[in-house]
Amino acid sequence: MMRFIYATTLILTAGGALAAPKTYTLPEPTAQLKPAEGHTAGLEAAQAACQTCHSVDYIAMQPPGKGKAFWESEVTKMIKVYHAPIDEADGKAIAAYLAATY
Ligand code: HEC
Repeated sequence: MMRFIYATTLILTAGGALAAPKTYTLPEPTAQLKPAEGHTAGLEAAQAACQTCHSVDYIAMQPPGKGKAFWESEVTKMIKVYHAPIDEADGKAIAAYLAATY
């Protein structure tokens, strides 16, 4: 029993030493949001709000032409489920922009 406790302590100590802070340099995202005539506000809001957690690929890989209801519910899901800090007006502008563009 003693031997078991000693071995466990050694492993935990070594684990602590290995858990030194690490820094990562993230690659620059390559995908960009598509421009859209008449939706500058929505595009700018999306640029500010929709690339902080994941890349634009998440948007671009959705099947095209899903429509306004789909994009409104996506934006709502990002806010309600994943706590994206987006206010209602920006959310509406983003959904309208995405529906017109993707
Ligand atoms: C707070 C973090 C966060 C922000 C900000 C965010 N998302 Fe997401 N998004 C997520 C997470 C987490 C997932 C789910 C990833 C998974 O399931 O693999 C996701 C997934 C998605 C998907 C894939 C389909 C789905 O529903 O899982 C789309 C499309 C999407 N996000 C669009 C957006 C748009 C548009 C915005 C800006 C309004 C946005 N996201 C902002 C966290 C975020």
